[in-house]
Amino acid sequence: MSFARQMFGQVQRRAFSVSSRQNSKVAILGAAGGIGQPLSLLMKLNPRVTNLALYDVRMGPGVAADISHINTNSTVKGYDPTPSGLRECLTGAEIVLIPAGVPRKPGMTRDDLFNTNASIVRDLSKACAEACPSANILIISNPVNSTVPICAEIFKSKGVYNPKRLFGVTTLDVVRASRFVSELKGTDPANENITVVGGHSGVTIVPLISQSGHSDITGKKLDDLVNRIQFGGDEVVKAKDGAGSATLSMAMAGARFAESLLRAAGGEANVIEPTFVDSPLFKSKGVDFFASKVTLGPDGVQQIHDVGKLNHHEQSLLDACLADLKKNIEKGVKFVAENP
Ligand code: NAI
Repeated sequence: MSFARQMFGQVQRRAFSVSSRQNSKVAILGAAGGIGQPLSLLMKLNPRVTNLALYDVRMGPGVAADISHINTNSTVKGYDPTPSGLRECLTGAEIVLIPAGVPRKPGMTRDDLFNTNASIVRDLSKACAEACPSANILIISNPVNSTVPICAEIFKSKGVYNPKRLFGVTTLDVVRASRFVSELKGTDPANENITVVGGHSGVTIVPLISQSGHSDITGKKLDDLVNRIQFGGDEVVKAKDGAGSATLSMAMAGARFAESLLRAAGGEANVIEPTFVDSPLFKSKGVDFFASKVTLGPDGVQQIHDVGKLNHHEQSLLDACLADLKKNIEKGVKFVAENP
């Protein structure tokens, strides 16, 4: 079976809902980057996508020309970095994926990217708020814990904020978690469904292994597993030795999340993904955004699931997460207030 058929076999079996929807335009901002290129490729292979719009400050049209030769039905167009190019790219988009920005180098935390990426996400969010205020906005650019609040503040300032349509992409954390658990247990990672909540950096990533049917993983094994899930991105940053962070696994994770949104928009029920959203779960503790399992629907966020039952160890991980997360979110909000 070909790669595309294997990956999207499930999609094709539900072809009736694909054909019932006429237009699914997906825009990618930062499409020529390490994540952007494989993500564009995966979206071109997705039969639910009808139009693919690729924007970058360099080589958007080049990546688009290359991908446009792939013999799937969607049309592909690349856009140059002009205000009208960006506007045209975004107009009519149902989903906007944003992997624009700089990645980490060895020794950097995601927060070290803030100074560069905050203004990139702010400016792209302004363009989205003006050109496609009703689109689903999927933020990949780090630090996600701060860039998602930045996008929210921009949409609020333009009077078009819809918390059901803004998502921080944390899918890679559960993709990694299921792979790492399967390596320990000798299981099929496709069948591992590990709950990861919180945020998307270091100790804000909280794996809930006790909820995954693996209560036999304890002691040092559990500590090592939790640490590997929290800092798995560092393995890639180190191995790439200065040339970037996760790109291929991230593209897969981003494509999976976009596909889930398209399935939900097509009327499929019970589509659940973990994602960092405007969430009521810990607002009483001053944490306005939180990643947990979310049921997706035609209007975006349909239901935000509670974190469920935690053991003592997980509760202490969550406490550490909330303290950091609150600061990360406040940093994003403050940035927009001071640099509108
Ligand atoms: P990259 O440097 O390879 O690509 C970034 C692309 O963004 C470049 O092509 C660049 O030209 C473009 N860009 C920069 N400013 C732009 C602007 N104003 N408008 C449009 N495009 C612009 O970086 P890579 O590896 O693709 O990573 C991108 C971001 O994704 C980084 O911030 C990284 O930390 C983050 N990331 C997020 C993950 C997650 O799980 N959410 C996982 C891995 C990376």
